[in-house]
Amino acid sequence: MKVSEEPKVGEALYHIRVKKGEIPRYVFLPGDPGRVKVFAESWDTSQLVAQEREYLTYKGKYKGVELACTSTGIGSGAIAIAVEELLRVGADTLIRTGTTGALSPEVKVGDMIISSGAYRADGATRAYAPLAYPAVPSYEVLLALVEAAESLGVRYWVGLTYSTDSFYLGQGRPGFNGYTSEYSERIVERLRKLRIINMEMESSTLFTLAGIYGARAGAIFAAIANRATGEFVPSDEFEASGVRTMVKVADEAVRILYEWDAKKAELNKPYFYPSLIKKL
Ligand code: URA
Repeated sequence: MKVSEEPKVGEALYHIRVKKGEIPRYVFLPGDPGRVKVFAESWDTSQLVAQEREYLTYKGKYKGVELACTSTGIGSGAIAIAVEELLRVGADTLIRTGTTGALSPEVKVGDMIISSGAYRADGATRAYAPLAYPAVPSYEVLLALVEAAESLGVRYWVGLTYSTDSFYLGQGRPGFNGYTSEYSERIVERLRKLRIINMEMESSTLFTLAGIYGARAGAIFAAIANRATGEFVPSDEFEASGVRTMVKVADEAVRILYEWDAKKAELNKPYFYPSLIKKL
């Protein structure tokens, strides 16, 4: 019997069920499969690629740019699988488009947060690299997200993100029957002192794996909760939660990146730099 090291079903990758070459290089990564459809509806054309467990993939075109969106499920284990398999089938630029809890009282629910780096309180990346290894986005993706947010005139913040596998105690929320732990009681205050501006569950894994594999990554979030003011808005209340705004900013950021990438290719430059914009 021939034994394959690569878990596949026919030609498709085992979990995401996408085949090599079926998706373009730019891929959005929301956690929730429901949000993949919000992306698909925002594009000029879209089609279903695959659906398996929490991994739903659509691809399409936005203003002439080919892009895709795959849901990752929640937490580091689930997104690590998505990243591993998407890179194998042709993606090289992965943008997390999630929801988050803001730590600073100035951030309003519905604002955008763009991550400039992630605190690795996840579980999966310990199998990949020591904790001293940085979890940082690509500066090109980060800049394209800022450019898109500015061009659309939305409220946004740029700062450090805390990523944990635990929505409740890991983010300072009480567990069942009010159970708590020393870690949980201290974490919110500790993160504020470290000037971390938001809490979520996947970005440290995306950034760490992208760093190791030489891919580009970025992350933008809609703030659906504020841990200082106690506000919480369900993410399916699109206008109030900022999810629809996040989709618009992300689409526009990929259009901008595509232009920058084309200019880099034309001028044979490996990296984007600000005066390249004058040459556009
Ligand atoms: N996602 C999280 O992980 N935490 C929040 O508070 C909101 C969304």
